[in-house]
Amino acid sequence: MSETKTPQDTCVLVTGGCGFIGSHTVVVLLQRGYKVVVVDNLSNASPVVLERIIQIVGQEAAEQLTFCEADVRDAEVLEKVFSQHDIDAVIHFAGYKAVGESVQKPIEYFSNNIGNTLALVDVMRRHDCKSIVFSSSATVYGDPDALPLTEESPKKPATNPYGWTKWMIEEILHSLVVPDPDWNVVLLRYFNPIGAHPSGLIGEDPKGIPNNLVPYVAQVAVGRRDAVHVFGDDYDTPDGTGVRDYIHVMDLAEGHAAALAWMAGRTGCEVFNLGTGRGSSVLEVIQAYAAACGRELPYVIEPRRAGDVTANYADCTKARELLGWVARYGIAEMCRDSWNWQSHNPNGYDG
Ligand code: UFG
Repeated sequence: MSETKTPQDTCVLVTGGCGFIGSHTVVVLLQRGYKVVVVDNLSNASPVVLERIIQIVGQEAAEQLTFCEADVRDAEVLEKVFSQHDIDAVIHFAGYKAVGESVQKPIEYFSNNIGNTLALVDVMRRHDCKSIVFSSSATVYGDPDALPLTEESPKKPATNPYGWTKWMIEEILHSLVVPDPDWNVVLLRYFNPIGAHPSGLIGEDPKGIPNNLVPYVAQVAVGRRDAVHVFGDDYDTPDGTGVRDYIHVMDLAEGHAAALAWMAGRTGCEVFNLGTGRGSSVLEVIQAYAAACGRELPYVIEPRRAGDVTANYADCTKARELLGWVARYGIAEMCRDSWNWQSHNPNGYDG
């Protein structure tokens, strides 16, 4: 990706662009003037997302958006996408993401997440497009020895196949630059993305019972579920519940745009944490959400969930210094925007 190109001349392929983080990132890219091609097989996303994105960015920006309903593993389709569009860079979100499901379906997780990445970089190489941003996770740090986590903190063994796919895809992408220094790889390690676009038009829409805390709390708030299950209150934290670094999905989306701008004209492989640097406990999140929705939210204490760590939060100095990026929103705004989305779309994109 050339340094001299403006966003208007730059075409970004976004895999998984209809998903939670992908859709918010597509909005930010279109608003900055990028041309965006989304490839998504809609296996875990709704086509309504595209209409909502267009509603947010307006018709003019929407003209820069192309959607292709396809699986990233479909080499023929991917080949066509790269032939039809002059893709400068790729942001790769597409993949299965449910931790518990990954334990039950390891073959599907390894095959889909790693297979689609290999298919993607193979086509990229053929088309001499060698700039890629990968959607990695703080899960690669495992159970940390020390906090906050910096990019230098060691990677630890994952506790589930989903975590291993993030771990291994990082290694795969890192390996590309060794024989071919033209590759330009950015690994973004997200902490816990929550919240929604402030318009309330796009947000997180998990299928079935939510695995993650905030989507579950949101469904309790909107009356779809009775009470939040708090997994453990005997951790070594101030209130005994798990601590995480929650980050507003809009901050995360801005982080991708900052990474794209930074990587123009560069080569190599760089890792960035994207978090706020602040930890919040499960009970603090429930309280913040209760304040946002204006009512008490019932919860019950359950045993710890297997594989959960006590606490993690990020040191985001590197992203600030190199990308010029900092998270702007706190937990109150994250809950406000999540509630705005959930209350206007009680059943997600299904109405
Ligand atoms: N929690 C509850 N009740 C719930 C769900 C979660 O008490 O119903 C607690 C968890 O025990 C944890 C905290 O809320 O303390 C956050 O849990 P999430 O499931 O929301 O998030 P995790 O930190 O477990 O998961 C995140 C990402 C995963 C990633 C994982 C690895 O969502 O993609 O970090 O650290 F794999």
